[in-house]
Amino acid sequence: MINANDEELTRDAVAVMGRTRDPRMREIMVSLVRHLHAFVRDVRLTEVEFREATGILNEIGKLTNDTHNEAVLMAGSLGVSALVCLLNNGDNGTTETMQSLLGPFWRLNSPRTENGGSIVRSPTPGEPLFVSGRVVDRAGRPIAGAEVDIWHSSPVGLYENQDPGQADMNLLGKFTSDAEGRFWFSTVKMVGYPIPIDGVVGRLLKAQDRHPYRPAHLHALIFKPGFKTLISQVYDPADPHIDTDVQFGVTKALMGDYLRHAEPRPGDPTAATPWYSLDYTYVMEPGEATLPRPPIK
Ligand SMILES: [Fe+2]
Repeated sequence: MINANDEELTRDAVAVMGRTRDPRMREIMVSLVRHLHAFVRDVRLTEVEFREATGILNEIGKLTNDTHNEAVLMAGSLGVSALVCLLNNGDNGTTETMQSLLGPFWRLNSPRTENGGSIVRSPTPGEPLFVSGRVVDRAGRPIAGAEVDIWHSSPVGLYENQDPGQADMNLLGKFTSDAEGRFWFSTVKMVGYPIPIDGVVGRLLKAQDRHPYRPAHLHALIFKPGFKTLISQVYDPADPHIDTDVQFGVTKALMGDYLRHAEPRPGDPTAATPWYSLDYTYVMEPGEATLPRPPIK
């Protein structure tokens, strides 16, 4: 433990991590310290920068509370959240997956809504959107009786709990897939929105000339015993930020066919024009049906 130089210090620190009792924790700590030391060498971290770095970590903690999580925001803004998602789904990252990030706005106990119903619960000016979803297994067989939680931002880019103008649970709903695995509902077309930029993450984005926007998307959480709970986001390819999602969440598998229709909706004279449609097939992977802890109440 009395080291002659920095190489010996690293060897020592890695050896100490190697004595961690739990095998998985040992694996993580050994690798973490190896990579951390290599990183410090790589950038020749100065003493001033090191003090700044510890200050930033402390600030991230202080900015985090019941309604805001700066650490999750930072992980997303560095692409780490999306990486963890891709590596842990789709056969450990080897095949396409519809899994995506949960985000901060999923709520337990969304209002139960019949198929064909609307999730617009207070006046929400916007263009109508008709969503038709299908839940299938990997062989394409329909999954009936899946519980489908849906939520999305408003046509001005705000979720109900961020916007006093929206009713509680506006643009949220819980559906059950029918015998063909289908669920369907009407809503209004959402738009993309900025992530909070009043903290550490905002300073990072500014330093990199990055905009804070996420492209427009529809959230879903699909629960069915026998399958891994599917947490998904389906993106609008026409969104101006589709190529530059601040959270790196967009994948090819998550592109939705949000179609704009200028003509009246067939058989539905009440629907305003233009209107949008979205048809999307959600493929559930084998695994455990567990629910995440809701980020908000
Ligand atoms: Fe979202």
